[in-house]
Amino acid sequence: MRRTVIAGNWKMNMTPAQTKAFITDLAPMVAGMDKCDIVLCVPYVDIATAVEAAKGTNIKIGAENVHFAESGAYTGEISAAMLCEIGTEYVVIGHSERRQYFGETDETVNLRTKAALKAGLKVILCLGEVKEERLNGITNEVVAMQTKLDLLGISAEEMKNIIIAYEPVWAIGTGLTATPEQADETCGVIRATLAEIYGSEVAESTTIQYGGSMNDANAAELLAKVNVDGGLIGGASLKTDKFTAIVKAAN
Ligand code: 13P
Repeated sequence: MRRTVIAGNWKMNMTPAQTKAFITDLAPMVAGMDKCDIVLCVPYVDIATAVEAAKGTNIKIGAENVHFAESGAYTGEISAAMLCEIGTEYVVIGHSERRQYFGETDETVNLRTKAALKAGLKVILCLGEVKEERLNGITNEVVAMQTKLDLLGISAEEMKNIIIAYEPVWAIGTGLTATPEQADETCGVIRATLAEIYGSEVAESTTIQYGGSMNDANAAELLAKVNVDGGLIGGASLKTDKFTAIVKAAN
């Protein structure tokens, strides 16, 4: 009923030339693996090259952020219309690295999400607890609150274009992975929160990914969980063989 989505988040890696080579290599490796959607979210300057290289394949291309204004005096930012015009289909919003290092808040995440939806982009909305929150037993409250704040004012109809990525901050780039049980439980809390806001139909049809050191070795176990509908993959999305193995596990 809901799609499994395997998405790479390249972060600040890969030049346009490397992007072209990567997608040219990857495309035949994942050809025909159609039981999940395959997305690569890449740096802004790589998007046009990625879109061109992915033409005619089952790989979709996304950005890693978007600004909330349509245009204006926002030096260094990129608008949703700019992304759409070059063929971008998805956008990651609210990644913990944006929240930690670049001052993103639930309020700006909410604004960016609304701008992206308005332009017709599909949003991969990231949220998750930090280590201290997990250790203090308040993970469920934290992710429920983030879910509510990040989605304020977003309609049930618009939820069709939102994927939630549950990314425990302590598991990102650390080699520490949430156990399949922890991932399932917390994705379940997010789903229950969606049910509270929108009702069970939206909750059951929303794709909720897990992200945080997902790799070729642990993907199958994580993806087997009922509330885990895919992955948002950092490090392992930079190697065609590892990323393919994760896509295969999802298939
Ligand atoms: P890693 O897979 O490198 O831990 O990164 C996860 C992530 O942040 C995806 O957005």
